[in-house]
Parts: sequence; C-alpha cells; structure tokens
Amino acid sequence: MTVPDLSRRVKPAVQVASSTDEFARLASDVVTRQLGARPDSALAFPTGATPLPLYAELARRCAESALSFSQVHSFNLDEYVGLDPEHRASYHAYMLEHFFSKVDIDIARVQLPNGLASDLDGECARYERAIASVGGLDLAVVGLGVNGHLGFNEPGTAFDVRTHVTFLAPETIDHNVRYFGDRARVPRQAITMGIATIFDARRVLLLASGEAKAAAVRAALEGPVSIDVPASVLQAHPHVSAVLDRAASALLERLVR
Ligand code: GLP
Repeated sequence: MTVPDLSRRVKPAVQVASSTDEFARLASDVVTRQLGARPDSALAFPTGATPLPLYAELARRCAESALSFSQVHSFNLDEYVGLDPEHRASYHAYMLEHFFSKVDIDIARVQLPNGLASDLDGECARYERAIASVGGLDLAVVGLGVNGHLGFNEPGTAFDVRTHVTFLAPETIDHNVRYFGDRARVPRQAITMGIATIFDARRVLLLASGEAKAAAVRAALEGPVSIDVPASVLQAHPHVSAVLDRAASALLERLVR
C-alpha cells in the first residue's frame, strides 16, 4: 500500500487550451504518447462532461489508424452503487456510448466496478486485484469535482484509501442531477478507486474545463495539500500533467500567467 509522501512537491506540467479542439488535442497527445511507449498500457478513465472531447478525438485518431487500443487494459475510476449498467446514467453506459463502441478496444480487457455486486467490499478488493494483475496503472486520466473530488473521493477521504464504497457529497449529487432529471433519483453511493489507487498510477493526467472548476483547480494545484481537497494530493505525485481550458485555469496564480 502506498501512502503518498506529502513532503514531496512537484510542479505539475499545466497546459491551457484556448479551444475545445485544442483541449481534446492536448489531452489526446498524452494518451497517444503513453500508448506509443507501451501499447498494452493500463489506463484509468473518468466520466462526466469534461472528457467527452478527449474521447471524441481518441476515436477520431483510432478511425484514422493513428492509434490503437487493442492491447489496452481499461479501468474506470468509479461507478454508482445500485444502478443497472444499462441505465443511461451509469458509467458502463457512458463509456460504451462515448468511447468503447468507437475504438478498437478489446472488451475483455475493460473493467468497471460492479455497483450491483452483492458483496460490495469483495467487489472493491476484486477491482484492486484486477489492477494489480496487469502491473498497476500506467496512466490515470482524472476529472475534477466542483469540490475538488477525484473519482468519487469526496473531501475528507483519507489519502491512503484504495477502492472502496463511498457516499456522494451533497454538492456532487447536485452536480449530477442533470443526468437523472430528479435529485431523488441520483444514487447516494458509489464504488470508487481510492486516492491511493490513483496516486499509484505511474502518470496522472488531470482534466478540467469551465468556469465552475476554476476554484477547484486553484485549490488542487496551488492550495495546501489537504484531504479537504482530494485532488491536492496530486501536488505530491512525480508525474502529473494537467490540461485545462482558459476558464478553468483563470484563478491559477503561479502555474499559469
Ligand atoms: C463525477 C465523476 C468524476 C468526474 C466529475 C466531474 O462526479 N465521478 O470522476 O470528474 O463527475 O464531472 P464533469 O466533468 O461533468 O464536471
């Protein structure tokens, strides 16, 4: 088990895109470089609105045979508990719609947490074993919650926690109402890779776009490292890059001018 060494501070490589196309290109370049170095990489993928341009650009590159996912091991960061994988708002359905159906990935190498497992703790342990069995994550692509969460690691989550069952923070429930139509329908729990699982990835790519993320980006990349802002742990990771759009980078003072 890795406990992040918080005494270490590494300046993340931050790139700011001035258009959605550039955002997609810069983020896709990181994935493309990773697969160039190791075609059978183990990648962690996020959901949400932020990575959609990335998935579209990766699909475009794949269609042009500039990139292949055929040997990739794919692990999603998280999935809701109790939601049928066929439900439109499940992360299974999201990944199939936006990515897996558009690239040459081998579905046998695709894993998401099973939020319908009867033994949820057993499922979390299985997920960790599955990641370990392919040698750990080479690149974790992560989005950012409005409250600084990573995956569904909400503020207050210890940095040494691995894949686990968690409750969604109220602001996360609010943010995700748009996918369910009604607050009462948003699942209250999820299985998420833990901060330690994400931190163990050899590289991390943080994506954030839009004004609503500006404060979280600032807190994550320039604020104190604290469990109050889960993504701030990335300041201690040796290989982090961030691709932001202008709006999300607007409050950065040191890393971007
Ligand atoms: C959810 C996911 C996160 C994601 C976040 C941001 O909470 N569990 O992994 O980063 O949404 O989503 P969006 O990109 O739509 O703002």
